[in-house]
Amino acid sequence: MATNRTFTMIKPDAVEKGHIGAILEKINAAGFRIVAMKFTQMSKRDASEFYAIHKERPFFGELVEFMTRGPIVAAILEKDNAVEDFRTLIGATNPADAVEGTIRQLYAESIGENAIHGSDSDENAEIEGNFHFAGREMF
Ligand code: RTP
Ligand code: MG
Repeated sequence: MATNRTFTMIKPDAVEKGHIGAILEKINAAGFRIVAMKFTQMSKRDASEFYAIHKERPFFGELVEFMTRGPIVAAILEKDNAVEDFRTLIGATNPADAVEGTIRQLYAESIGENAIHGSDSDENAEIEGNFHFAGREMF
C-alpha cells in the first residue's frame, strides 16, 4: 500500500547535543505533521534487527553501538509524498555531501553519526514504523 507517511528517528548524537527541538521545528516548517512520537532507547537487539539489511557491512558493529548509546526520538510523519520529501529534507547520508539547509548539513557530524534517519521507501516506512509503534496501525 502506498502511504503518505514516513518514519524517522532523531539519532543519539543529535539528542545528546540538544537538537531535538530545532529538528522538530524544521520538520514542522517543511509541512510534516507528527502523527506518533516517542522518546526511547534501542537495545542492541533492537538496533541489530532494525538495521539487519546492513549486517554484512563493515560499519554494522559501529552502527549498532552508536544507535544504542543513548536515547532517540522515533516518530511517524505525514505529508504528501512523505518518504521522498523527507529524504530531501534530511540530506545526504554523509553530511559533507548534504545540501545547505538540510538537517544533516546543519546538525550531523559524520557519515556514521548523522543526526537523523528517514525511511527510503513506502515499504520500509511501514516496516520501520511498525517496528517502533507495534499494534498502532499507523500504515
Ligand atoms: P538512514 O537509514 O539512517 O536514514 O541513513 P541512509 O539511508 O542515508 O544511509 P544507509 O546507507 O541506510 O546507512 C544507515 C546508517 O548507517 C550509518 N553508516 N555508517 N561509517 C559508514 O561508512 C557508514 N555508512 C552508513 C549511518 O548512520 C547511516 O545513516
Ligand atoms: Mg537507510
